[in-house]
Amino acid sequence: FNTRSLEGLEIHITAGPTREPLDPVRYISNHSSGKMGYALAEAAIDAGARVKLISGPVNLATPAHVERVSVTTAQDMLHASLEGLASCDIFIACAAVADYRPTSIAEHKIKKGNEEIMELHLVKNPDIVATVAASADKPFTIGFAAETRDVLSYAKDKLARKKLDMIIANDVSQTGIGFNSDENAVTLVTTTTQIDIPQTSKRQLAKQLIEQIALLYKQSK
Ligand code: PMT
Repeated sequence: FNTRSLEGLEIHITAGPTREPLDPVRYISNHSSGKMGYALAEAAIDAGARVKLISGPVNLATPAHVERVSVTTAQDMLHASLEGLASCDIFIACAAVADYRPTSIAEHKIKKGNEEIMELHLVKNPDIVATVAASADKPFTIGFAAETRDVLSYAKDKLARKKLDMIIANDVSQTGIGFNSDENAVTLVTTTTQIDIPQTSKRQLAKQLIEQIALLYKQSK
């Protein structure tokens, strides 16, 4: 592991879930634990980078030397991601962002009524990584693709549609990898390369990903 491969570079990483409130006591969210994003932050520090970690609510300690910005909703995460983008060299979107949020947040706790079926109205959230990739200050932009079927073809579609430089595909239908587990297995995809990284701990995987990202970033310059 090369401790100098990201020397002088600034990396911004989103991690964890977002929470989209329905009322003062309830929210919509997902099973992301933040482990993958935090492992990437630690590996990037070990490779000599300056790291800003834009984190949804998780139960993890902030790795040493990492600047952590804590956010709750997708809209908060977008604002934190656009701040300071001019000095960012590499942006990694590892967060599991809620695609939709409730159209309105009730001021008071929603009471149980007599109806058996309750409808929720949701509105689309902004796409954070696509907004970063479309900005005038576009850094080398990397997304994750969490898929339960046709993993590679959906990942390639996201790479093109969101105008990313790289996408890291993980199959989140398999137990023991992906959301909340300590291990993961991924395929790193760019327009010209495809690299499989077999199942290992998220910490080991993060080291391997950071090495590959450093190489491909330098080739892109
Ligand atoms: O946190 P862990 O428990 O360790 O689990 C890790 C993980 C499974 C969450 C992680 O490896 C992962 O796959 N993260 C991306 C999850 C996801 O939401 O994927 P997606 O395919 O829905 O989104 C594609 C990409 O767009 C992602 O980079 C995502 O961060 C980004 N996105 C999505 C929606 C949105 N509104 N804004 C975004 O930036």
